[in-house]
Amino acid sequence: MHAPRSLLLLPAIIMCHFMTGQHNCVAIHKKTSCQVQGGRADCSHLRLKAVPPNLPRNITGLDVSHNDLKALPPGSLAPYPLLLHLNVSYNSIAKLDQGVCRTLPLLQTLNMAHNVVHLLNEEDVSLCTNLTRLIMASNKLLLRGEPFSALQSLRVLDVSMNKLESAKLGSRPQLPHLVSLDLAFNSFTTLKKGDFSFLRHSPFLQILNMSSVLLKKLEPGCFEPISGLRALIMDGSNMGTQVISKLCSELSATAIDSLFLRKTKLITLTKATFKGLKETNLTFLDLSRNDMEKIEGGAFSWLSRLHTLILTDNGIKLLTNDTFKGLNSLRSLQLTKALVKRHSTPIIEDFSFRPLIALESLILQRTAIHDITENTFTGLSSLRELDMSWSSCASLRNINNKTLVSLSGSPLLKLNLTGTAIARINPGSFFFLRNLTTLLLDFNFIKQTLTGEEFEGLNRVEELHMSNNHQTVNLSSRSFVNVPDLRLLNLGRSLKAEAVNIDPSPFRLLLKLTVLDLSNNNIANFRENMLEGLVNLKVLSLQHNNLARLWKTGNEGGPLLYLKHTPSLTTLLLDSNGLDEIPAEALRGLSNLREISLMNNLLNSLKDSIFDNLSSLRVFDMQKNLLTAVRPRVFKAPLRNLSLLLMNKNPFDCTCESMLWFVTWLNDTHGTRVPGLRDQYLCNTPLAYFNRSVMDFDGLSCKDMTPFQALYILSSTAVIMLTVTALLVRFHGWRIQFYWNVLINRTLGFSDAKADEGREFEFDAYVIHAEKDADWVDRWMALLGNDLCRFCLEDRDSIPGMLKLNSIVDNMRKSRKILFVVTETLLRDPWCLR
Ligand SMILES: *[C@@H]1O[C@H](CO)[C@@H](O)[C@H](O)[C@H]1NC(C)=O
Ligand SMILES: *[C@@H]1O[C@H](CO)[C@@H](O)[C@H](O)[C@H]1NC(C)=O
Ligand SMILES: *[C@@H]1O[C@H](CO)[C@@H](O)[C@H](O)[C@H]1NC(C)=O
Ligand SMILES: *[C@@H]1O[C@H](CO)[C@@H](O)[C@H](O)[C@H]1NC(C)=O
Ligand SMILES: *[C@@H]1O[C@H](CO)[C@@H](O)[C@H](O)[C@H]1NC(C)=O
Ligand SMILES: *[C@@H]1O[C@H](CO)[C@@H](O)[C@H](O)[C@H]1NC(C)=O
Ligand SMILES: *[C@@H]1O[C@H](CO)[C@@H](O)[C@H](O)[C@H]1NC(C)=O
Ligand SMILES: *[C@@H]1O[C@H](CO)[C@@H](O)[C@H](O)[C@H]1NC(C)=O
Ligand SMILES: *[C@@H]1O[C@H](CO)[C@@H](O)[C@H](O)[C@H]1NC(C)=O
Ligand SMILES: *[C@@H]1O[C@H](CO)[C@@H](O)[C@H](O)[C@H]1NC(C)=O
Ligand SMILES: *[C@@H]1O[C@H](CO)[C@@H](O)[C@H](O)[C@H]1NC(C)=O
Ligand SMILES: *[C@@H]1O[C@H](CO)[C@@H](O)[C@H](O)[C@H]1NC(C)=O
Repeated sequence: MHAPRSLLLLPAIIMCHFMTGQHNCVAIHKKTSCQVQGGRADCSHLRLKAVPPNLPRNITGLDVSHNDLKALPPGSLAPYPLLLHLNVSYNSIAKLDQGVCRTLPLLQTLNMAHNVVHLLNEEDVSLCTNLTRLIMASNKLLLRGEPFSALQSLRVLDVSMNKLESAKLGSRPQLPHLVSLDLAFNSFTTLKKGDFSFLRHSPFLQILNMSSVLLKKLEPGCFEPISGLRALIMDGSNMGTQVISKLCSELSATAIDSLFLRKTKLITLTKATFKGLKETNLTFLDLSRNDMEKIEGGAFSWLSRLHTLILTDNGIKLLTNDTFKGLNSLRSLQLTKALVKRHSTPIIEDFSFRPLIALESLILQRTAIHDITENTFTGLSSLRELDMSWSSCASLRNINNKTLVSLSGSPLLKLNLTGTAIARINPGSFFFLRNLTTLLLDFNFIKQTLTGEEFEGLNRVEELHMSNNHQTVNLSSRSFVNVPDLRLLNLGRSLKAEAVNIDPSPFRLLLKLTVLDLSNNNIANFRENMLEGLVNLKVLSLQHNNLARLWKTGNEGGPLLYLKHTPSLTTLLLDSNGLDEIPAEALRGLSNLREISLMNNLLNSLKDSIFDNLSSLRVFDMQKNLLTAVRPRVFKAPLRNLSLLLMNKNPFDCTCESMLWFVTWLNDTHGTRVPGLRDQYLCNTPLAYFNRSVMDFDGLSCKDMTPFQALYILSSTAVIMLTVTALLVRFHGWRIQFYWNVLINRTLGFSDAKADEGREFEFDAYVIHAEKDADWVDRWMALLGNDLCRFCLEDRDSIPGMLKLNSIVDNMRKSRKILFVVTETLLRDPWCLR
């Protein structure tokens, strides 16, 4: 028996070793081996036939639920002596071996639910003294002797779904620390007097779950041993009025606080049903799903301490002025689907709620009510919340100053009229709700122009929800004059397309407004001043409108920069507006913006720096546009500090020019989440990359361009240099030539004669000049020439009759210096050239 099992286990073990190289078994996709995390091993759903022997020794939790274990031999748990929590639920284990707790002395939680354990003897768990939770639900338990008597630490015991024939789990007192006992779905139908006597010394017992136990008989004093009981759950027990009545009287001597009587066939609630609870401190009562049709007057009058009453899902036909009599501590009344239309429409009589002087929350969701009169809600002097959402009531179709007048004595803060088929709100309809802060009118059929009188008296309202009203609401400049404290205004999918195109703007006085939702309204036009004064606006929803034209360069009067009035914006939603252009100044100054969504537009090329002011941006959504290039001059600033980028589904052009910067950024996103990066960021062009991920784009191919770039720079420099040189030579050639000659002469050693050379000089200088310059040279010489300086001028001082060249050489020799009068003409002079 053991050999084949270990053989079958072998592949799993080998897999574990191969996948990690260590003892930890980590699955890659679909779990094929145990997962170890935080000291717990999850080996569930692996078709194991035995506990894996190769997990880390120090695990404290082991889950081998949903496998094919047929037994739990203590030896198989020996490798894990530190286990605190063991889950072997959903196997086919037939016996709990005594050795399990010997092997695992520290065990605190043992879950053996959904096995086939039959006999449970005292010895089997006698060593499990450290156990605090024992789950034996859904087995075939047959208890022998006092199986649980050793469980000194047990706090939770679940023996539900075991076909137990009695609630009696032992005959002598035991389980001193038990807090919760689950006996649900067992077969006993009678609670005998001594059944719970084994819990006589269990002072901490608080919760008893007997759901779906079909109790028919309760012997007097059956709860007496567990009088500390605080919560009793009897859901699905089909007890009916009579047995419930008996149950309540048995509970009278207990500390019962919460009673769950869901689905108990309590069709008629008589005046006496809860009489037994009179002396208790019951605060919570759940009577949902009982098909209850009739509540006799005064039925709750015994429950003066009740805080919460839940009557959800019933078929109550009538509430009268004494239905809730005596519930003067009730804070919360749940009537969701409690009154529904069957043959006739249920009626709430006048003053029905008057006894509920402490009621703070009245939930009438999805009920059908014949009508609301001037006294329906009279007397609810503590009411703070009234929820009538999705209820049908003819009186709400056309709300006027009488409809809700019965609430005038209530300090109502929240009124939920979502989905109540309101078609019209007349002037002064909410006039008496002076304390109201939240008014919900979503999903109605309101069809009117709001003049402002509708909201008269609501000067404390901070939230007004009017979304989904079939785009039949029209606004006027005075629509919101009576709600100056408004912080949230939701008009999504409610307005006529032209409703906001009015001057002055309907929103101009809402200085505290922080959230404005105008989405889904097909708005195509409004004035530049629509948001003027909304300096506190943080969230602006304009998605699913038609605002493309307002930002076009060609717009009459230029692009409409309507966002310049809202410097505090943190969230801007402009999805699906057909935008193909964003003006350079449109998003200027929005330095608090954290989220911008431009999804589903037609944006292609964007102007440089349009996003540069968005220095707080964390979420940037540009999905499904027509972006081909992601250029740094547009996107570098907004992408700097993002936590989430959505730019998928754009027709990217994977060329160096368009994509290199973006791909490099994506490769190194530093904590920005980019969902779908692999499969939704696809290249559209060029053909070579078509339909491939942008991450396949080879950045290196761009780097190969570097030598060519260098060559280009080099050659263009050379050309420029050549040009400059040519121009220089053309216009300053003579000067260069002169310096060149001087340089040559210097280096070749032609130097001035030294003063002490001892030669006899006749002249101080020999003057060489161009013939053309002769006139002014003569003049200057005349000025300078005196006794100190004698100049030799060729024309003047050449010796007559002598060869010109000889004369020159002779005169030069007689001169201490040679003075060149360098002019352009000299350098062109044939003599000089020679
Ligand atoms: C268990 O032991 C492994 C080494 O075998 C060690 O890495 C791990 O931290 C230990 N876990 C706990 C919860 O002590
Ligand atoms: C045991 O496993 C079952 C089934 O996987 C799960 O529902 C249950 O929460 C687990 N119990 C404990 C105590 O871990
Ligand atoms: C219960 O656990 C404690 C440590 O928490 C241990 O010292 C004690 O031996 C355990 N009890 C048994 C019976 O093993
Ligand atoms: C009572 O026990 C049943 C069976 O264990 C369980 O499904 C149900 O959630 C429990 N009810 C409460 C209120 O805990
Ligand atoms: C009900 O509460 C009061 C005070 O809170 C307490 O004195 C009384 O004993 C409680 N009654 C029961 C039956 O627990
Ligand atoms: C309740 O209504 C009935 C008539 O419908 C009336 O006779 C009775 O006085 C009312 N009771 C209270 C407490 O208002
Ligand atoms: C108003 O009622 C609707 C529909 O039942 C619900 O979804 C919403 O949460 C309620 N709003 C408030 C503020 O209670
Ligand atoms: C209620 O409205 C009607 C007509 O619309 C008006 O005559 C009446 O004075 C209003 N009542 C109050 C209390 O405002
Ligand atoms: C309702 O408003 C009044 C003043 O108009 C105030 O005295 C009262 O405390 C408010 N009630 C609540 C519950 O805010
Ligand atoms: C909407 O109301 C304005 C006045 O605020 C009015 O000029 C306009 O005609 C109304 N539009 C429709 C379609 O009723
Ligand atoms: C907004 O951007 C413009 C142009 O880029 C710049 O001149 C201005 O200083 C920026 N303003 C802020 C608040 O960053
Ligand atoms: C992305 O980064 C890896 C390693 O950091 C590098 O090998 C690869 O070339 C980079 N790809 C691009 C396109 O920059």
